[in-house]
Amino acid sequence: MLHRLFPVVFVVACSEPGPPVDHAARRAAFHAELELSLGAAWNAPMAEVVGGAKVSAGQEIYDKSCGNCHGTTLDGRGPRSGGVDPRPPALVGDQAAKLPPAALLAIVRDGSPGTGMAPWGRAFSEAQLRDVVAYILARRQGAATHK
Ligand code: HEC
Repeated sequence: MLHRLFPVVFVVACSEPGPPVDHAARRAAFHAELELSLGAAWNAPMAEVVGGAKVSAGQEIYDKSCGNCHGTTLDGRGPRSGGVDPRPPALVGDQAAKLPPAALLAIVRDGSPGTGMAPWGRAFSEAQLRDVVAYILARRQGAATHK
């Protein structure tokens, strides 16, 4: 009996749009993969990753290239945030993943494949990437110079 129904079920299942992507789970898996690939560098101290970086230069880059999605207050609610799926995460505050400095740098440089987070390593030098990460970390620590 059931085997006769199978082709019908199969056709119906295939004509449905796929199940919605569980972005929280995908993102957690992406972070776990990144942790594996960075190895010991995942825990590199902040000074090692962004030592000497310029927070104010980072803020300029952030406001121009990142705030439209992640918000100028880094709350994930920039003007473009509603137009990307998944939505951009908050980078500070209770909702933020609070990734370590080396992970922030890697994601900003290489992006998050399959999402709106582009690999900014094409647009910015390594020093500029460090500047922008230093700015995120400064905001996370509440050393805001902005609004
Ligand atoms: C078009 C919108 C968009 C722009 C512009 C953008 N991002 Fe993102 N960003 C995202 C999205 C969406 C994610 C989530 C990726 C995921 O789910 O894996 C993300 C993830 C991140 C993450 C990882 C945070 C986490 O908790 O997973 C960091 C750090 C980040 N972005 C920083 C930046 C910086 C710095 C810039 C500017 C140079 C920038 N982003 C520009 C959309 C954007």
